Amino acid sequence: MTIDYSQAASRNLHKTYFALGRATPGSQCIHEPGFEACLGAFNHPICNFAANLQLDPWVAHRLAELAVSQGVFNVYSLPGDKPNDQSLRDELLVRAGFRRNYGLRQMLFDAKPTGLGVALERAENLHEREIVATFMAGIFFGRHPHDFRRRVAESTLAATELDLYSLSIRGDLTAAVMVARDDEIHGLFNLCVRPAARGQGLGKAIVEEVVKEAYKEGKPVTLQCDEILSPWYEGQGFAVSGAVDVYSLPDERRIAIIK
Ligand SMILES: CC(C)(COP(=O)(O)OP(=O)(O)OC[C@H]1O[C@@H](n2cnc3c(N)ncnc32)[C@H](O)[C@@H]1OP(=O)(O)O)[C@@H](O)C(=O)NCCC(=O)NCCS
Repeated sequence: MTIDYSQAASRNLHKTYFALGRATPGSQCIHEPGFEACLGAFNHPICNFAANLQLDPWVAHRLAELAVSQGVFNVYSLPGDKPNDQSLRDELLVRAGFRRNYGLRQMLFDAKPTGLGVALERAENLHEREIVATFMAGIFFGRHPHDFRRRVAESTLAATELDLYSLSIRGDLTAAVMVARDDEIHGLFNLCVRPAARGQGLGKAIVEEVVKEAYKEGKPVTLQCDEILSPWYEGQGFAVSGAVDVYSLPDERRIAIIK
């Protein structure tokens, strides 16, 4: 049987997001007809979201109820969700009060790697994971308060089924990446390079290394990125395999539902 890699990419994203959600202290993962969700004690999408959708008007309404009760709450609409047609999923969510907040490109590398890559260090224990996770949170959430970054880093380090790698130059942690391996595909997440070291090919070399390692296991690589970065990944042999649409409840809608 041939694998639909766009759907395998969605399954990889589900596993990754739920691993991070479950690793957040106080969070609870639930499975209801038509979706799975993570409900967290901390006001951040890392632990407040729904995915794996089989939407109908009742499911969409139930998601809106959860979004009201949680405050921050993202709904991820991905290839493989039902209905198959993305515009029908969009219509169902919008009718329930959601707004499409942003979209990511789902990208796939499924070829023979040609790049040399670069040696990465895998974080082998919780202490090493903490160092890499703190670095990642600092790059992605640099403008957020310290406590917020700490909580995101704690979830990342505790999700031990996700591998963390770093690249140090002259002893300084300079870049990092998270890899979500599963039986079908490897997911590349949280690729980040210290600002002062950007534009020198480190990001590209790390991507090469991740695709090389996956290829050794006979697997393709998936990632999600902003539209603006997709030409950069395309230049490295990735192709767009789908869209990830992220919905949330606008405040005015939240107030209307509570009333
Ligand atoms: C994206 C990132 C990992 C690239 O690392 P890097 O070491 O600078 O990558 P390389 O040197 O191999 O390639 C640089 C190229 O990346 C592309 N690029 C990086 N950030 C970009 C952005 N925000 N918009 C458009 N292109 C971008 C450019 O084409 C750039 O080319 P240039 O050097 O000619 O300007 C780094 O910019 C970063 O850490 N960004 C913040 C975290 C992030 O957004 N990660 C991506 C998650 S999908």
